[in-house]
Amino acid sequence: MRILSGIQPSGALHIGNYFGMMKPAIALQAEGEALYFIADYHALTSLRDPGALRENSRRVALDFLACGLDPDRAALFLQSDVPQVTELAWILGTVTPMGLLERCHSYKDKLARGAAASAGLFTYPVLMAADILIYDSDIVPVGRDQKQHLEVTRDIAIKMNETFGDLFKLPEPRIHAETEVVPGTDAQKMSKSYRNTIEIFGAEKETRKRVMSIVTDSTPIDAPKDAASSAIFQLYSLVASTEEKEVMAAEFRRGGTGYGDFKKRLFESLWRYFAPMRERRAAILAQPNYIDGVLARGAERANAIADKVMARVRDAVGV
Ligand code: AMP
Ligand code: TRP
Repeated sequence: MRILSGIQPSGALHIGNYFGMMKPAIALQAEGEALYFIADYHALTSLRDPGALRENSRRVALDFLACGLDPDRAALFLQSDVPQVTELAWILGTVTPMGLLERCHSYKDKLARGAAASAGLFTYPVLMAADILIYDSDIVPVGRDQKQHLEVTRDIAIKMNETFGDLFKLPEPRIHAETEVVPGTDAQKMSKSYRNTIEIFGAEKETRKRVMSIVTDSTPIDAPKDAASSAIFQLYSLVASTEEKEVMAAEFRRGGTGYGDFKKRLFESLWRYFAPMRERRAAILAQPNYIDGVLARGAERANAIADKVMARVRDAVGV
């Protein structure tokens, strides 16, 4: 079984990335051949600062390793170290119906938030399909926001198979029910572009500040509160033990505890949860060439697979 996922290096990773994609991806690395990449070509649709792109890409590699990606099991590499994906993206684009891309929410959302309507942004899902299909991927762990892109990938694969014979497997998304949408500090989906994130490796003071800034309703301290709809409780559920969770849920129901207290407890649990990752991160940083070595080995493994699949595709389409 081959498992594949990607993450854009468009800024500091947040706990939505962690629980939505990184944690499930790390858990899956023991179950098959895992390939995880840093989607730097995709990030170019929003980031046009070469220094920042390079720096962010390395940082994502560092953070992913710190969170538990085991480079002896999973290949970790840069998308752009396998430039064949852009060739495959072109070929896939020639069979992709415009309507399929026109329906994509993420394109419309990005425009609504002020992004310029570039061709790259529009064809983003085609490159993503190429990322997935070029490795004959079986399973793709992602957050719910990527579900539609997986459907597009499958539609493109079906179209290619109808046109050129049985070329591609149909990949399955793996979306974790509990963490499919991690809320941000404003209770919307946590996302870099909403400025509502809590970073995985933010400084202590900043992280505390972010947690304390979570929006709450105006229920008085004494009144019972609804845990299920509270971003505080939802985030706490990700990092607390079952008993701790039950205790907080009971306090929500009972009333008498203010949101400020719940937030403090959330911060403490969050900070404790990521402590081992912070330690591992410091250890990696102490080894100067470690990340470059990991990325080079990862790229080699990814290229070996991509070369084979591309030979098959080129043969099938006649180039
Ligand atoms: P991105 O930052 O958009 O490249 O996202 C990387 C991965 O994290 C994707 O699989 C997303 O689905 C996932 N992800 C990002 N934000 C969230 C969130 N708030 N909740 C769950 N998953 C998320
Ligand atoms: N579009 C994904 C995101 O923003 C990143 C990504 C690019 C990806 N290519 C992929 C994820 C292939 C899974 C598989 O999160």
